Amino acid sequence: MSLKSYIKRDDGAVFDVVSLGPIGVLPDSQRQGIGGKMIARSKEIARQLGYRAILLCGDPDYYTRQGFAAAQVYDIRNSENMYADALHVCELYEDALLGVSGRYYEDEIYDVDVAKAKQFDKLFPPKGIVKGTPTQNKYEKMVRRVKVPC
Ligand SMILES: CC(C)(COP(=O)(O)OP(=O)(O)OC[C@H]1O[C@@H](n2cnc3c(N)ncnc32)[C@H](O)[C@@H]1OP(=O)(O)O)[C@@H](O)C(=O)NCCC(=O)NCCS
Repeated sequence: MSLKSYIKRDDGAVFDVVSLGPIGVLPDSQRQGIGGKMIARSKEIARQLGYRAILLCGDPDYYTRQGFAAAQVYDIRNSENMYADALHVCELYEDALLGVSGRYYEDEIYDVDVAKAKQFDKLFPPKGIVKGTPTQNKYEKMVRRVKVPC
């Protein structure tokens, strides 16, 4: 899933970016390059649409291999003005983020209303919810790692 979000510089200037995620590949089809191809294709489309960067929250071990870098490198903070270990950035052309630092605001669609989502899910045949996989546990720990900028 890709959505339009933005970075708000400390002087108030706003720059549109793309938020990527969640991304998922069925377990039986993982590790065949499908995730990498989806990310590469998303970059290509975002670049064609004129966007300067893609941002996402995810595991550094995976996303640094997909051309992303820690947002802190670009002095990009979350909406609460904190550096977040999970927040990653991929510039879509050279120096695309030159002079673009500030707070990153995700599209409000990410603020899921859990009660409404549960109601919506009832429209579909029930599925088991998988919880506590190693990658989920790692991600949950990582998203809590935030620090105040110096
Ligand atoms: C993350 C995900 C989309 C990757 O898709 P994929 O098609 O398996 O990815 P690719 O085949 O392009 O890349 C696989 C490589 O990335 C590695 N990788 C996958 N997830 C990783 C992770 N969380 N941390 C480190 N490496 C990871 C694999 O070990 C593999 O490396 P290898 O081939 O050297 O062993 C897939 O594993 C998935 O759907 N996971 C569950 C949902 C999820 O965690 N989504 C991401 C957060 S929104």
